[in-house]
Amino acid sequence: MISFNKATNTFRLDTTNSTYCITIAAKGYVAHSYYGPKIGNDDTTYLLRQMEYPFADSPTFREKLSLLDFLHQEMPTDGVGDFRKTALAVTNSSGNNAIELKYAGYKIVDGCPSLQGLPCVFDKTNKAQTLIITTKDEILGVDVELYYTVFDDTDEIVRSSKIISHAAEPVYIKKAMSLAFDMDNDNYDAITLNGSWGRERHLDRHTINMGTLEACSTRGVTSHQEHPFLAILDKTAGNDNGKVYGVNFIYSGNFSAVIQRNQFDSLRVLMGINPENFCWKLEPGAAFETPQAVLVFSNNGLNGMSHAFHDLYRNHLIRSPYKNQMRPVLINNWEATYFNFDTQKLLDIAREAHKDGIEMLVMDDGWFGKRDFDDNSLGDWVVYEKKLQGGLKNLVDQVNALGMKFGIWFEPEMVSKDSELLRAHPDWAIQIKGREPGMARAQFVLDITRKEVRDYIMDSVEKILHSANIEYVKWDMNRQVCDVGSIDLPADQIGEYFHRYVLAVYEMQERLITNFPNLLLENCSSGGARFDPGMFYYSPQIWCSDNTDATERLFIQEGTAIVYPLSTMGAHVSVCPNHAIGRVTPFKTRGYVALSGTFGYELDITKLSAEDRAMVPQQVALYKKFSPLVREGDYYRIASAAQTVDYDCWASISRDKTRALVTFVQLYNRANYKTRMVKIPGLDANRTYKITWPDEDQKKFPPMTLTGATIMNAGIPIRRDWGDYQGQLIYLEG
Ligand code: DGJ
Repeated sequence: MISFNKATNTFRLDTTNSTYCITIAAKGYVAHSYYGPKIGNDDTTYLLRQMEYPFADSPTFREKLSLLDFLHQEMPTDGVGDFRKTALAVTNSSGNNAIELKYAGYKIVDGCPSLQGLPCVFDKTNKAQTLIITTKDEILGVDVELYYTVFDDTDEIVRSSKIISHAAEPVYIKKAMSLAFDMDNDNYDAITLNGSWGRERHLDRHTINMGTLEACSTRGVTSHQEHPFLAILDKTAGNDNGKVYGVNFIYSGNFSAVIQRNQFDSLRVLMGINPENFCWKLEPGAAFETPQAVLVFSNNGLNGMSHAFHDLYRNHLIRSPYKNQMRPVLINNWEATYFNFDTQKLLDIAREAHKDGIEMLVMDDGWFGKRDFDDNSLGDWVVYEKKLQGGLKNLVDQVNALGMKFGIWFEPEMVSKDSELLRAHPDWAIQIKGREPGMARAQFVLDITRKEVRDYIMDSVEKILHSANIEYVKWDMNRQVCDVGSIDLPADQIGEYFHRYVLAVYEMQERLITNFPNLLLENCSSGGARFDPGMFYYSPQIWCSDNTDATERLFIQEGTAIVYPLSTMGAHVSVCPNHAIGRVTPFKTRGYVALSGTFGYELDITKLSAEDRAMVPQQVALYKKFSPLVREGDYYRIASAAQTVDYDCWASISRDKTRALVTFVQLYNRANYKTRMVKIPGLDANRTYKITWPDEDQKKFPPMTLTGATIMNAGIPIRRDWGDYQGQLIYLEG
């Protein structure tokens, strides 16, 4: 999979469907010579085009800057004449900002590198190989190792780097991107995922104009607003056709994802920790590891790219024992009660839920301290006895006695202004000395970069978990990080804060899953502000959004699923009018949309209408039947409401192509009674499929039998439903 050609000084990385070539160019620069569909075993050095620049007067490049202005590079550096956006900036103790990397050697090893304190891909089946290229700046006294991991069963290249100082004095890393490469622009488009609270990760497709396109976060978390994902794709690329390059980041904090189109119509692509507000002091002899970034190439459009990301994350990143298991159908009391509940209310919900086959009660925010509203008690992780009469164990035992599991909510990184914790430790909130830190939702962020703070919080969380049979935790994080200061960090290390914060979150979650190995952990951040692959290393599922409206979820779940497996997307059925936007959609459609995620309920089941209530056991049965297919199958985006305007359609297709679950949602009905013929991709052309509408109340649609070739090319008939927001679930088996 990885080879080195001594004659051409070229490394070749082959994945199932792509080739990536790195060439050691003039003057020892590590250059990028090819990435795309598989190519022959040829000399690719001509692709470096080292002689094209008008003033490149000799093959030895007397003028270095002529070369650096256009060379396609793997780790471009700051201060020495590459005037594009660079990937690495280092300042020495005299304040000089320059680093120039020259090739010094390589190793090809089996397996994946493991990173200290950071999530990273793993290889349990001996399918991975890693290329480590060592580069050096002799003057600065800094080595940089470039890591490239490929797997023989998936189509990604996982990149990171390690910066090692041999300097006599500390050096300061001002920028350390995990991934960089340059490519010719073939009139490509770009896709980013953008949004806000309640509308996370909406697909946004752009023309790549001259200059810089950046998606980034400076909020301390990945964010609702922008996402560490970029796709660069053919203008004509669609769901199943065209070339697509996808980039993603295994990290949960400030990031920057950049496409820069330059004077020669080359694109520079960068992904890494956001250099804004970042500066890492590297002591002599110390090393800094960047988080991993993932690169995917697909020659089969966006669906091909999604399959590669999904496979990598399912097979080589998510560690939880739950990843290949049916998740318990849960009912969460947040939208049911908000803060207004007690033991009796929760037991009423649990009792009724259990009757319909729901398997776990999750007690959300409001069970601790004196929390009747969101303005107090975060950090005081002791049971609010007035609300939970009889205590937590009593409640959990009673829920267990019904035959249900029990889960609980925490927000471990936070402290309320009104809390015993802050009164006892006013300096534990992140703050700049002498400046009142800004509040959000009446809370401050704890300075978890300090060990005593982490220990205190995790001790109190674990005390609660030991006190009763708790099998699930929802780890929430409801504000962003600012006013950054810490009594533990000197002035020349404050630039480390945001990264140290993320490392602290990882350390706390690692401790949790180590001490409670059977715990089902679901991450959450005001909905989906920390829905990122870094979190997958600790939790197999993440709450996707606080917007549970079925039609808004079409956009959110589509954007999420373009990168992340459906098995990771927290999706629940809630009541209408929807609490986020007030829209009314059929209960049935809400169930269909949630079935393409982890599935559960977020409502007061004791108050459901008889008609809706009757559907709950049917929905649970559908989940039981189709969850393995959704969890393990390939996801196909078929029609996007953002483009069609009035309908949306996707499918989960088993790897052996014998089964498919198609979900169709008609957003708006129109006075156009023509049946839609929807072509389902990804089937076996020669197989004959039985097509049924498996939901009880859809038996009105007669079953059909068609070959895969017909379904893929002529389509299946999806009749127009009467009214808006109607859904259909279609099952194909062959
Ligand atoms: C934000 C989450 O996204 C919600 O699901 C809920 O847990 C609230 N926080 C509780 O405060």
